[in-house]
Amino acid sequence: MSVLPWHLLPDNAAVGESGRLTIAGCDTIELAREFGTPVFVYDEDHLRARCREAVAAFGSDATYATKAFLCRAMANLAAEEGMGLDVASGGELHVCLSAGVPADRLVFHGNNKSLDELRSARSVGVGRIVIDSLDELDRLEALHGGDGLCPRVLLRITPGIKAETHEYITTGQDDSKFGFTVSTGAALAAVEKAAASPAVDLVGLHAHIGSQVFRVDSFAAAVGVLGEFANPLGLPELVVGGGLGVPYVEGEEGASITQWAAIINKAVTEAGITARVGIEPGRAIAAAAAVTLYTVGTVKELPGIRTYLSVDGGMSDNPRPVLYGSGYEAFLPRSVTADRRRPVRIVGKHCESGDLLVREASIQADVVVGDVVATPVTGAYGHSMGSNYNKMRRPPVVFCRNGDARLVVRRETYDDLLNTDLG
Ligand code: LLP
Repeated sequence: MSVLPWHLLPDNAAVGESGRLTIAGCDTIELAREFGTPVFVYDEDHLRARCREAVAAFGSDATYATKAFLCRAMANLAAEEGMGLDVASGGELHVCLSAGVPADRLVFHGNNKSLDELRSARSVGVGRIVIDSLDELDRLEALHGGDGLCPRVLLRITPGIKAETHEYITTGQDDSKFGFTVSTGAALAAVEKAAASPAVDLVGLHAHIGSQVFRVDSFAAAVGVLGEFANPLGLPELVVGGGLGVPYVEGEEGASITQWAAIINKAVTEAGITARVGIEPGRAIAAAAAVTLYTVGTVKELPGIRTYLSVDGGMSDNPRPVLYGSGYEAFLPRSVTADRRRPVRIVGKHCESGDLLVREASIQADVVVGDVVATPVTGAYGHSMGSNYNKMRRPPVVFCRNGDARLVVRRETYDDLLNTDLG
């Protein structure tokens, strides 16, 4: 029931001609016309600025978690700004390598890396492999020999910290599929085994307590536990993961990357950690950099019940509302600063009632069929978690900078949907 909170928009959002939203000098209504909808519109300098914040605090030990949003333009952008890149599958590895990112800038993650994935990671020479289990160490040992390769590895440690966030994205608690648990002694046993293994060069430890974590003291607590465990081992590297929460809706506030980094660095000093410390943000780099533009196709008014706005995307371009019950704001970019007084539910075009984009939205009262409607803070875990459900074509991605709009991922075609279908 209010105007859109401006801090949810990309850095270079502005009010342009007749009250329309511009992003980095590009008129959003024109972008919708030129590229069609749905479309992900990124403010490229916003992405760059967040990467620079991370690099200012941690240098080349700042690593971008590509799962948040990955295409070749993004991989290059993060690398150009001096970040390493975290990849969590053979597919993410492939995209980063095909973008031309040097393999030694990549950190390979995952709780069940296959023999093939580990073989590729070793042979291309990724900078670090983060070992998540003894089964993975066994696989690396099976690959050892002959080629003289001995990859540098970190061990994924589970510090026993339960971060306050959605259950699906907490990872630091003992009851977790990820990593070696400190409290059970598994972490120490793994360090001893990896240190003695001729197949790997153990250079440090890694932990990641969860994602969309607003309480920055959780990170300080994790650093404390990690310090206690890691200091006596004398390993040179310690990565404390990503996870910084970002505001999605009115009333939410989050720490900046710089503030988060300062809290981590203070905790590192207090814990007497002398290892090189790194971070691995994904969402904090990409989320607020983008808005998604849709077109309203139907307005269904149910007197005394509610109004449904159906748009031309849905759970296939943003599954977060369905998966985690995540909230978003919505607004009409043609009058971005106007009051939003009309309560509506914004739904997609998939064949199920669960296909919600914004459960309780307030939008400008004069919304009509044909309007472009926008959801902000959709730059992370939207495009990357998209699907082809109902054989919807995945939307394009546009990078805006200084008034120029660059198409970096085109919309899928109907023929793309048949690419893997052998008939
Ligand atoms: N490092 C590791 C090892 C991770 O597993 C993750 C995220 C990150 C870094 C980056 O976390 P971030 O800074 O983005 O919070 N799909 C969920 C989020 C899943 C996060 C998985 N791991 C969502 O849409 O909320």
